[in-house]
Amino acid sequence: MSVTRFLTGITPSGTPHLGNFVGSIRPSIAASRNPGVQSFYFLADYHALIKCQEPERVNRSTLEIAASWLACGLDPEKVAFYRQSDVPEIPELTWFLTCVAGKGLLNRAHAYKAAQDKNHEAGRDGDDGVSAGLFMYPVLMAADILMFNAHKVPVGRDQIQHIEMARDMAASFNHLYGEHFTLPEAAIEESVATLAGLDGRKMSKSYDNTIPLFAPRAELKKLIATIVTDSRAPGEPKEVEGSALFQIYQAFATPEETAALRQAYADGIAWGEAKQLLFERVDRELGPLRERYEELMAHPERVEAALRMGGERARALAQPFLARLRAAVGLRPLTAPAGERRQAKAAALPHFKQYREADGRFYFKLVAADGRLLLQSTGFDAPRDAGQAIARLQQDPQALAALAPHLAPPEGVGAEEVAAALQALAAAKS
Ligand code: TRP
Repeated sequence: MSVTRFLTGITPSGTPHLGNFVGSIRPSIAASRNPGVQSFYFLADYHALIKCQEPERVNRSTLEIAASWLACGLDPEKVAFYRQSDVPEIPELTWFLTCVAGKGLLNRAHAYKAAQDKNHEAGRDGDDGVSAGLFMYPVLMAADILMFNAHKVPVGRDQIQHIEMARDMAASFNHLYGEHFTLPEAAIEESVATLAGLDGRKMSKSYDNTIPLFAPRAELKKLIATIVTDSRAPGEPKEVEGSALFQIYQAFATPEETAALRQAYADGIAWGEAKQLLFERVDRELGPLRERYEELMAHPERVEAALRMGGERARALAQPFLARLRAAVGLRPLTAPAGERRQAKAAALPHFKQYREADGRFYFKLVAADGRLLLQSTGFDAPRDAGQAIARLQQDPQALAALAPHLAPPEGVGAEEVAAALQALAAAKS
């Protein structure tokens, strides 16, 4: 069975809140239990340094976030759960990618552009207060993803551009040095709604409207009491549409419980009573997790041990891969025999396969270095015809268009990927 690798990073610069739980922690942990997936979840602490230069806060947040994911059921035996800074191969790969990333590409990154726009609006120089770290952010993120050849990257919409940039860097590298990287795709979970915050806007640290995931019971109750409602009196029917309270309830309740609250709204439940219901429901769900969380926070050495183990596992993959990448770019012992070098490159190339089917006709396919099918031909009457088509494609990737009637790219394979594979082959031949 082929395995799909999922990878996502969490930047440790704050305390997890209910919105993080509903939008990321809970669905990610559930997904990691699916058969046929291999999950990489990591604390992006190098990223944290870009926006947070308070050492205590980075450290504390790393502990809080790691303890939260573990308390919520992440199984560190099954998931590669690590700290980015425990894998020094990542910054080394960042440099390799820096050297193939177009500066113009980075100029267009949303986070950098937003910082520039803000400066321009204030009449300042565009780069005022902008660190090179912020500018390079997409390259570090690409290294995170490409280091483990992730197929799918679950992220919010604001991160889609970064995944596209990672694909771009991967394709450039592959084109220059052979097929080393899988081209990653963003995985946007449509069904996971963003959670409303205390003021009804999206729950977010930047709006200061969050409910900390593991707030003690009394604080949870107090915060829930401050959720915005309208001025309808007890006995007056209430709207579920646009009600933050209802929306948060729904994220924790079963469909039956949600239907019952909907009815209670129609029947004119008092806001105070609805808030009590919400508090009890959320507390019932989170109570047992909160106990585990508090236990872990009291024993940071357990969290540290889990992250160390994850880091070792991640490095066991990253080290040999980076060694191959170093050799591929030319950083290798001066004594390595040329033959060995050529072999290393040949092994990393895509290749054509020619064969005959039960229908008596002749076919070929193009297979990526990692074994994935990139291109499938239709049937040819003679083996010569199939052979000639392959020869044309090998000599000139542009022939793809002319041969289109004989070709069918399999589902999920983009035209750029096929073109990049052909280019890599052509480059190897020349
Ligand atoms: N930049 C991401 C965020 O702010 C976090 C992150 C860092 C990440 N590296 C990643 C997400 C790699 C996915 C894959 O949300």
